[in-house]
This record gives sequence, C-alpha cells and structure tokens, in this order.
Amino acid sequence: MDTNLDPIMSLRSEHETVRGVLKNLDGYLKKIGSSSSDNLRKNLINQLDEITSFIDKDLETHFKKEEEALFPVLGNYVGIETGPIHVMLIEHEQSRELSTEFKTKISDYQTNGDYNALIGAGNSFSLLLSEHIDKEENILFNMASMHLSADEKDDIMKKMRTIK
Ligand SMILES: [Fe+2]
Ligand SMILES: [Fe+2]
Repeated sequence: MDTNLDPIMSLRSEHETVRGVLKNLDGYLKKIGSSSSDNLRKNLINQLDEITSFIDKDLETHFKKEEEALFPVLGNYVGIETGPIHVMLIEHEQSRELSTEFKTKISDYQTNGDYNALIGAGNSFSLLLSEHIDKEENILFNMASMHLSADEKDDIMKKMRTIK
C-alpha cells in the first residue's frame, strides 16, 4: 500500500524526514562545539534557521496530524487519558517546550555568546524527539495497525489531508 493511502505509512515516512533533520541538527551541534573560531561558529549557528523553521512548520503539522486525526480514533481502542497516547501527548508538549528553549538559546547567543547553552538545549530537544519517534514506531503504530479497520484508516487519512 502506498504512503498516500495508509495513514500509518504516511506518518512513518514523515518520521524518516524528521530523523534526517535530527541527524543534520546533531551534526551542526557537534561542529559548533568543536569550532576553532568565533566567526565559523557564528556562521554555523546562523544556518540553524532552516532547522528551526522545519520544527516550527513541518514538525508542528506532523504533531497535529497525530493529535487531531490518529489519536482520537485510536483512542477508542487504547484510551487517551492514560496509556501510550497520553504519554505521546505529554511528549509533544515537552518537544514544543524544548524547541522554544532551543530557539531562545539561539537568540541569547547573539547577545551573550553562550554557545554551550545552545548546544545543551539542542541536544535535549533532539534526544527527546528521537526517543519519541522510536516509541511511536515500535509501540503505538503497531497498536494502530492491529486495531484500526480499513474504513477508520480511510477517515484518518482524509482528516490528515486537511491538516496543513
Ligand atoms: Fe508524535
Ligand atoms: Fe510522530
């Protein structure tokens, strides 16, 4: 089945994109930490813009697809107030908080030059999100594949297409 028809495959394929961005972010953070000149470091930090705008737009859309399309339907089988969906919702909030923190540290750097704080915030965000994706892929999406009917998958996919 192609990723345009199955909501779980479509979300998994978005995870691949997110993983690519996180790998890129990790690479930048390492280079920023080991950079030998302030100028080089400043250039690298300016290039983080592309990553933070991905987080603000694409990652936010991905979270909304899960929160507004997948979780309400899957919640009928596994619950929302407790259990895995509850944990995923908490982690979405943590990810939003950590990305805000990361952006704050990037702008603080422009005035105080504290690149270690920026690296720390970036690493915390990256670690949380990468573990979050692992949990969804290994636990939640398997539950979804087990429980959801073809009609439910159809409805989820339709709803996901309206979320931009
Ligand atoms: Fe998620
Ligand atoms: Fe996800």
